[in-house]
Amino acid sequence: MTPIIAPSLLAADFANLQRDIELVNASDADWLHLDIMDGHFVPNISFGVPVCKAVARHARKPLDVHLMISRPELYLETFQQCGANSISVHYEACDHLHRVVEKIKELGCLAGVAVNPHTAVDLLKDIIDQVDLVCLMSVNPGFGGQKFIKNTYHKVQELRKLIESRDSKALIEIDGGVNSQNALPLLNAGADVLVAGSFVFNSEDPLRTISDLKKVPA
Ligand code: DX5
Ligand code: ZN
Repeated sequence: MTPIIAPSLLAADFANLQRDIELVNASDADWLHLDIMDGHFVPNISFGVPVCKAVARHARKPLDVHLMISRPELYLETFQQCGANSISVHYEACDHLHRVVEKIKELGCLAGVAVNPHTAVDLLKDIIDQVDLVCLMSVNPGFGGQKFIKNTYHKVQELRKLIESRDSKALIEIDGGVNSQNALPLLNAGADVLVAGSFVFNSEDPLRTISDLKKVPA
C-alpha cells in the first residue's frame, strides 16, 4: 500500500512559512502535519491558532492537527474552524476520551488519538473502533529532530492486530524521527501514515525527500 506522507511544519523555516507551505503544496505529500504545543502538556511552545489560520490560507493539502495540549476538548471547534481535516488529541491528556473523539467527529474532522512512547496500545481497545487515526509517538512529544524509539516497531504490530481484531478502520500514523532507514520497516509492520519533520525540511531537496518517502514500498 502507498503510504500517506505528512511533512511536519514544525521543522520548516518559520520566517518563510508561506514558501515552505507552497513547497509542500507542490510536493507528493498527502497531508500537512501541524504540531500545537502548549508548554504545559509538553515542555515546549510551538505555535497556535493565528498561525494555523495563516497556514490554512495557503495550504492545499489536508491539515493534520496534532494537539500536544492539556484540555484539548476546549479547543476542538477552534481548530476545526482553522481548517483542520484531522484532529489528534493525546490519550494522556483526556479524562473523557470517548466524548472528545465523538466531538471531533461531530465537527466533521477525522478523529485521532495520539499515544506517548510509554503508553500501551492495549489501552485503546475500547475506543479503537471509534477512531479514524492513531498517532503512535516514536519520540517523546515536544521537540522535532529527536531519535526514533525502536520499540515503536513492536507497538505498530500490536496496534495492527488490535485494529484487525476489532474491525476498526483506524489508520496508524508514526510521528517522530521518521527517516528513510525506518520508513520501510514501519510500513512492513503495518503503518499507514508517516510524519516527517526534520528529515524533510533539513534535507537538501525536500521535494525529492518527500517523493522518495512516498515511493518507499516500491
Ligand atoms: C514531536 C512532533 C512531531 C515532530 C516530528 O513532538 O509531534 O510531529 O514535528 O519531527 P521530526 O520528524 O523532526 O522528529
Ligand atoms: Zn506531531
